Amino acid sequence: MQARGPLMIEHRLIEAMIAVIQRRLERTAQTQVIDPSFVDAAVDFIRVYADRTHHGKEEDILFRTLRDKSLSDEHRRLMNDLIEEHIFGRETAKALVEANIRYRKRDIGALAEVMDRLRTLVAFYPKHIKKEDAVFFPAALTYITEQEDQAMLAEFWEFDRKMIHEKYKAVVKGFVRE
Ligand SMILES: [Fe+2]
Ligand SMILES: [Fe+2]
Repeated sequence: MQARGPLMIEHRLIEAMIAVIQRRLERTAQTQVIDPSFVDAAVDFIRVYADRTHHGKEEDILFRTLRDKSLSDEHRRLMNDLIEEHIFGRETAKALVEANIRYRKRDIGALAEVMDRLRTLVAFYPKHIKKEDAVFFPAALTYITEQEDQAMLAEFWEFDRKMIHEKYKAVVKGFVRE
């Protein structure tokens, strides 16, 4: 398997979650209510899976490997854009968490903001994923050797192996702090 394999498989799960969020948004537009626990689950998915686990591998392993290569101006710009987009995704998730806190307190306008942030994520992820799948990942392959690609794949598995432990350590830490 090429190193981009697991990244592309993860893209498919992110797309599936985005479709779930989209359906929930359509329902919320009718009912004008949203389950704040659903928003918590969406945030957890975005933060732990899409950002920490998936963007983490892209940034810490793939982009790091490419940073020292003589990328074309176009490809370096694209990589920097992708990093900026990851930051944008993180900021949107943070704003969504804050809006959901206000929604739980029944603040006026909070539902509109929750929906707006979810809509932003629904619009953002498919575009970001398409750029990587169709343009950046194929381009990246032209800068790396087969050996480097396999070394990245091994690092990806190692990165993933740590994730479940990191996630549940954070959960316990959160309760201990209470
Ligand atoms: Fe990405
Ligand atoms: Fe990605």
